[in-house]
Amino acid sequence: MAELWRFGVSLEKDLLDKFDSLSRKRSYNNRSKAIADLIRKDLIKEEWQSGKEIAGAITFIYDHHKRELMNKIVDIQHNYGDVILSTQHIHLDHDNCLEIVAVKGSSKKIQDLANKIGAIKGVKHATLGMSSTGKRIG
Ligand code: NI
Repeated sequence: MAELWRFGVSLEKDLLDKFDSLSRKRSYNNRSKAIADLIRKDLIKEEWQSGKEIAGAITFIYDHHKRELMNKIVDIQHNYGDVILSTQHIHLDHDNCLEIVAVKGSSKKIQDLANKIGAIKGVKHATLGMSSTGKRIG
């Protein structure tokens, strides 16, 4: 673990109370970890905006009875093989499939992939979990 530094921060009491209350709600039991995670969230946002190498997951659901839809999903994924680490397919029920695509690479390319999957007719919902490779966030 990296060396720890202590520093003083001045905040309005009301703002600090709200921060502490939100941190407790999110199960933080110390303020340092809550603040470090806020900083990391901003660093990760910057990684995504600046087109750096990032990691994350695209999660989406669709009805597998629509055969053409499955072909489209597979075709798109083959075009993005260089950023896809793995794909997990879960049969949710008789009709619905859940797919989780783990990704690592250019943030722009991954956002493009997520947009293309989400725009396929028949994909009911798609999200992009924007995380980090962990290398630049301490
Ligand atoms: Ni399935």
